[in-house]
Amino acid sequence: MKILLATQKPFAAAAVNGIKDIAEKAGFEVALLEKYESEADLCAAVADADAMIIRSDKVTPAVLDAAKNLKIVVRAGAGYDNVDLAAATAHNVVVENTPGQNSNAVAELAIAMMIYMSRGQFTPAAGTEILGKKVGIQAFGNVGRLVGKKAEALGMKVYAIDPFLSAEKIKEGGAEPAESLEALYAGCDFVSVHIPATPQTIGSIGYDLISKMPKGATLVNTARKEVIDEAGLEKALEQRTDLKYITDVAPDNYAALKEKFGTRIFATPKKMGAQTAEANINAGLAAANQIVAFFKDGCTKFQVNK
Ligand code: 3PG
Repeated sequence: MKILLATQKPFAAAAVNGIKDIAEKAGFEVALLEKYESEADLCAAVADADAMIIRSDKVTPAVLDAAKNLKIVVRAGAGYDNVDLAAATAHNVVVENTPGQNSNAVAELAIAMMIYMSRGQFTPAAGTEILGKKVGIQAFGNVGRLVGKKAEALGMKVYAIDPFLSAEKIKEGGAEPAESLEALYAGCDFVSVHIPATPQTIGSIGYDLISKMPKGATLVNTARKEVIDEAGLEKALEQRTDLKYITDVAPDNYAALKEKFGTRIFATPKKMGAQTAEANINAGLAAANQIVAFFKDGCTKFQVNK
C-alpha cells in the first residue's frame, strides 16, 4: 500500500518524518512529492498511490483519472475547496480533512496581522494599539473562536457572527453576537474573516460590507482570496483612504493594489497561516492516522464527500 504525500508547499521535516513513522509502522510505504511544478507531475506521482495526503494542492478530475488505485485523499488542513468533491465521489475516492489541527497557527497569524497593520507595517510613523479596539469575527468555528480568545486576552472587545450558530452558542464561545453581518462590519475596528470558499461565499465580501467599516478599520483575511470581491475591495479602498486590508492570500491584482494603496494593503508572499512546525505536525500526523484508520477499520469519521 502506498501513501503519496503531495505538498507543493512542503511540510516541516518533523511532520514528514512523523507521517512516515505512522505509515511505516502500519505497513504502508510513503512517497514524497514536494515543490512540484505542474498537474502532470502530480498525475504521474499519484498513478500507483492507494492514498494521498495534500495541503492546498489541487485535486482535479485529471488527477483523479490518473489515480487508478486511489481510495482516500486527506487534506491535511481545514479547507477542502481545492478538491473536486464531485469528481472524487464519482471515482469512489473518500475525501477527508483534519479540522482544528492547524487552527492555532492561523489564529496567531490573524492577531499578528492586526498588530502589523496597526503599526503601519513596521514603518516608523506613529501607529495605534489594539487594546480596547473592537474585533468582529466572521464565522466562529475552530479558527474564529481561537482568534476571539486571543483578542480578548489582548484587551480587545470581541464580536462574532456565524450562520450556523445561535447567539447563545456564540456567547458560550466568549463573543458578543452581532445582530447582522452588516452590523459586524459597521461596528468593528477589525473584521477577521474565517469563512470557507463555497459557491455561497465566493465574492461575498465586497464594497457594500467593506465601506461600512468605521474610520481607520482593517479587514483581515486568513481564509480564502476567493471570498473577497476584489473590484469592490478596490473601490472601497479608493473612496475611503482610512481603510486597510491585510490578507494571507494575495489578490489577483495585488501588484496594482500595492502600488495604489501602499502600506494600507499587505499580502503574504505565500499562504502561511498554517505554516508552523506545530501545525504541520498536528495536521500531517492526523492525516496519516486517519489513513491508517480508514484502511484498518474502515473509519470515515472526517469524510467530507458523504
Ligand atoms: C487550511 O485550510 O487548513 C489552511 O488554509 C492551510 O492551508 P495550507 O495547508 O495550504 O497551508
